[in-house]
Parts: sequence; C-alpha cells; structure tokens
Amino acid sequence: MIIQRFDDEDALASALATRVRECLLANPTLVLGLPTGRTPLAFYRELRERHADIPWSGVRAFNLDEFVGIDKTHPGAYHAYMCRELFDHVSIDPANIHIPNGRAEDLKAECRRYEAAIAAAGGIDLQILGIGTNGHIGFNEPADGLCAHTHIAELEQKSRESNAQLFGGDWQAVPERAISMGMATILGARSVVLVATGRKKADAVYGLVEGLITPQLPASFLQVHPRVTVMLDAQAAIRLKPDTTR
Ligand code: PGA
Repeated sequence: MIIQRFDDEDALASALATRVRECLLANPTLVLGLPTGRTPLAFYRELRERHADIPWSGVRAFNLDEFVGIDKTHPGAYHAYMCRELFDHVSIDPANIHIPNGRAEDLKAECRRYEAAIAAAGGIDLQILGIGTNGHIGFNEPADGLCAHTHIAELEQKSRESNAQLFGGDWQAVPERAISMGMATILGARSVVLVATGRKKADAVYGLVEGLITPQLPASFLQVHPRVTVMLDAQAAIRLKPDTTR
C-alpha cells in the first residue's frame, strides 16, 4: 500500500487527474472504475478542465454503484451525477459508460449483468474509490460478512445521511438500497486508488491503513491487494504517524 499525502484536496485532485491521464495515454482503452460522492468532485472538476488534454474516446467506465428505485435522470441518481460532473463534458463514447440500472425490473439479474459486463471488458484496470466514514467502499457496508460480487446493498443510516445533499437535504429521502460492486469486483481491479479528504475520514483511514482486516471496516480488505495507492489530504491523514508509508 502506498500512502500519498497532499496539502489540500486541490493538490490531491490534480495529482489524481495526472495519474488517470498517464494511464489513458499508456492504454487508451483503459477500463476505469469510478466513484461518486463529495470527495471526487474536485477530481472531476480537474478532469473537465483538462478534457482536451486527455484521450477519452476509448476509455471504458464502470461506476461503483447506483441507488435502487430512482430514474437515472433523477438529480440524486449517480447516473445524473456522473453526467453532470464528467461525462457530459468529455468525449467518452456513451456506449462505454456503464452504471448499474437501479430501476431494472429484475434487480438480481441486473447485478449479474453488471458483473458480467465488467468481466467481458477484461476486468477493471484502475479502480478509483472513496471511503465512507464507516469504512465502506462502494456500498459494501460494515457487516459480519461481505458480498463478493455486484449485489443489492441495504444502506446504513450514516451512508444515507452522507448522500442527503443529493436529495434536498433529507436523509430519509435517500433510497434505502443500492446496487453495488462487491468486494471481489473491487479487489479484482489491477490497480486501486483510494481517495480521502477531511477530518471526518481520519478514523476510517486509520483502520484501513493500520487496523486488522475486518468486514466491520470493508476498506481494510485493500491491505491484501498488491497495488493500492491511498491519497490523503492532511486532515484525513491526521491519525497516521508522519512516516507511515503503507
Ligand atoms: P463522500 O463519500 O465522498 O461523499 O464522503 C465517499 C464514499 O462514501 O465512498
């Protein structure tokens, strides 16, 4: 695990955009796993600003998750978020945009279809992740056991609260379920970059880097992955010793 620290979220976002650009220059048909939430907003802004400099046309994008039961055009849907923040502003081929369909009639079949689509693309080359204050990645919430593959997740109140902004500030308006990549889907990525900013993430980051591997902190499973970079601002890194490099 490589730990990278940045003075602030803008410096972090710039470094992450540079890394994605380099990966795309090296592999124009890169399979890129993408997150939503507040943390990646600065990163997506950076990608929009540099769009002319980044070869988007061949990239294949797979999002981590999507809410169940709302239309993809609903302002709270992650599909709408991705269009707003990134896809509407870059030259990605719409056929290469993959986000679970939270309104599929058969949600279990949709989970299987999504997992198969990732496999058919050859697996994820670079997976970018945020982390929940509860240590979730995607919507793999703390539990006694975790799902391996794309599945229907019941969201913790904490996770619904942190998405309230997308639903008029009312956490109870946030759907109770989402379709999420599973732990094996995420850990199957060839490289992973986890991004965390702000003091609220410091405990989860500490557990991810220093704690035991436990399903009560799903991000801790990244410790078994051979190619993980954790990018942190000063506040998110505050519980790590200054010289922690893994
Ligand atoms: P956040 O969400 O960026 O809105 O804090 C991160 C996550 O839940 O993965």
